[in-house]
Amino acid sequence: MMDEPANLAEIRLAAGSDAKRERYVRQFVNRFLSMEGVGVMLLDSDFRIVEVSDMIVSLCGLPRADIVNKHAERWFDEVGLQPRPFDRSLLEGQTFRNRVLNWKQDKQVHMLMIDGESLTEGEERTGAFVLFRDVSHRMALEEQVRRSDRLKTIGQIAAGTAHEIRNPLTAIKGFMQLLNKSLRDRDMEKEQEFVGIVLSELDRVNDLVSEFLLLSKPKELRQVSMRVGGIIQEILPMIRNEALLHNVTVIYYPKPEMPPILADKELLKQVFLNLGKNAIEAMDGGGTLIIRECCSAEESNRVAVEFRDTGPGIPPEVLEKVFDPFFTTKPQGTGLGLSVCQRIVDELGGSIEVASDGGGTLFVVSLPCS
Ligand SMILES: Nc1ncnc2c1ncn2[C@@H]1O[C@H](COP(=O)(O)OP(=O)(O)OP(=O)(O)O)[C@@H](O)[C@H]1O
Ligand SMILES: [Mg+2]
Repeated sequence: MMDEPANLAEIRLAAGSDAKRERYVRQFVNRFLSMEGVGVMLLDSDFRIVEVSDMIVSLCGLPRADIVNKHAERWFDEVGLQPRPFDRSLLEGQTFRNRVLNWKQDKQVHMLMIDGESLTEGEERTGAFVLFRDVSHRMALEEQVRRSDRLKTIGQIAAGTAHEIRNPLTAIKGFMQLLNKSLRDRDMEKEQEFVGIVLSELDRVNDLVSEFLLLSKPKELRQVSMRVGGIIQEILPMIRNEALLHNVTVIYYPKPEMPPILADKELLKQVFLNLGKNAIEAMDGGGTLIIRECCSAEESNRVAVEFRDTGPGIPPEVLEKVFDPFFTTKPQGTGLGLSVCQRIVDELGGSIEVASDGGGTLFVVSLPCS
């Protein structure tokens, strides 16, 4: 037997007369059955479904009439819950807590925690109920915090290292330029060409170190109110150019009525360029990149920009690591692109999310409005 929940005790106190109390309890039950993020399923002693709440109806995409009165095992099969999340032993009193259930709905996976409890009347077993809690959102938040922490530690190490690399680099570059000048004076063309190569490679190392420094110590933010569309317009020619080389079509859906955001233009450009570059690189044989501005579905004070590609997608075991610094699957990649993106978006108070399947990849950057 469970302890009586505190709010039920309060209901008793508040309710006074029996009729009033009953109305109040009914009101509570109705509200509970329609709650988002929490679902409940009531089972009878034959393991048949007596009642389900709205959340379960919407998760399994069947009309309520097709669920109620159905044997739970048949229902598991119909909605494709394999392995079965619980069995008849629940009716015999084998309760459970915090059992994890990954529920695939269309392309989305909901992470649910379920609790099962049996019901008795005196000695008689009358049935059981199962409580479903959708914890996907919380898990995603926790993952984001873990990622930021990891980035912070790596950032501290990076800051020291990058600095130490940059100093000698500046000296090498200076002497190489001097050498180049002497070679020019002596008309030593072949040697000049070699030094030219050294200088351009040095520039590459320098760019890398700069990116590294940004990762470790983001430069001071210069946040101004602006429209996200304006930033995309500015980088679009660069993205289109790159796309042309890879046989990729770029489609851009602006949304002029979107509210302005508070952001640092140069940094955001870098985020969008990195996402565009990754998408194009993923579709080497050709494909389509769709860039779309949209209002965030979850929060009204945020705007979002989507980068959707028709590339091969990212397998689940890779998906977990794409934001890790130095994680790359490309022979020439540094693996810093997405970690820099995340760092910047974090600094701007936004978030960046990825979803992928065999049909392509979607990155969504959401940013707070000004
Ligand atoms: N749109 C995408 N489609 C498929 N895989 C992607 C996509 N975007 C990122 N990835 C994967 O994530 C990895 C990490 O991306 P990230 O931008 O951080 O580094 P990179 O692109 O490999 O290197 P760099 O950005 O330094 O050139 C990539 O190597 C690739 O495997
Ligand atoms: Mg990249």
